Amino acid sequence: MEKERKLIIAGNWKMNKTVAEALDLVRGLKLELANVKEVDLVVCPPFTALCEVSKVILDSNLRLGAQNMNEHPGGAYTGEIAAFMLKEFSVRYVILGHSERRTYYGETDALVARKAQAAHAAAIKPIICVGETLEEREQGRTEAVLERQVRGSLAGLTKEQMLETIIAYEPVWAIGTGRNATPEQAQEAHAFIRRLLAELYDEGVARRVRIQYGGSVKPSNARELMSLPDVDGALVGGASLEVRSFSDIVKNSI
Ligand code: 13P
Repeated sequence: MEKERKLIIAGNWKMNKTVAEALDLVRGLKLELANVKEVDLVVCPPFTALCEVSKVILDSNLRLGAQNMNEHPGGAYTGEIAAFMLKEFSVRYVILGHSERRTYYGETDALVARKAQAAHAAAIKPIICVGETLEEREQGRTEAVLERQVRGSLAGLTKEQMLETIIAYEPVWAIGTGRNATPEQAQEAHAFIRRLLAELYDEGVARRVRIQYGGSVKPSNARELMSLPDVDGALVGGASLEVRSFSDIVKNSI
C-alpha cells in the first residue's frame, strides 16, 4: 500500500506495566518488528519504565514516547516531569491532551498548547489528541468540538513546529470500548482536521502533517482503518500491551 505520508503507529501503554513487564513487552516487539521500515514505530511506556526501555530499544527501529509532560522548563512543580528529563532517555515523542487527561485532570486546550510549545523547545514531537464524546457526536457537534480543540491546542505553533507535530483523532466513545469508529466516520473526521490545517497554515502543511486514529484499534480493523486516505497511523491503547496484538496491528497496516 503506497501512501503519501509515512504511517506512524504508537502504543500508549497508559498506567500499565512494571519495569520488568515493560522490558518483556519491548524485547518481544523489537524481535517481531525488526524488519519493519515502512512504518514509524513508537512505544509510550509509563514514566517509571522510560529509562530501562530506552536502553533496550537503542539499536532498534522503535522510538520512545512519553504519555504526558509538564509545560514548565523545570522547578518547583511537585510530582511533575519536565521535557529535559524526558530528553535524558532519548524520548522523541510526547502524547499531549489525551482525553483521559482532559477528563480526569482538567487539561484544557490552552494548557495543551503550552505543553506543545515546551515539547518543541526541547525538540520532542508532540502527539496532540483531539476527539468528541458520544454526547457531542449525537448532538451533531463533532466538527465544532474538533475545530475548538484543534485551534486551541495548536495555538501559537509555527509552521515549522506544526510540521513536527502529530495529531491523534481519538473519539472518546471509541476509547477502550471495543467500538471503533467506522471507516466513514474516521475518514470524515480526519479530512475535516486536515482542512482545518490548510486554513490555519497552508495546503502544504495540511498535506504533510500526519493524523493518527485512536480508539479500539485492533489487528482485525487495522488494515481497513490504516488504508483510509487521511488516516496516517494509529494510537493504540489496550492492544499495545501485548506483543502479538501490537505487532499484528503493525503488520496488517503495511
Ligand atoms: P484503546 O485502543 O484501548 O481503545 O485506547 C485508545 C487510546 O486511548 C490510545 O491513546
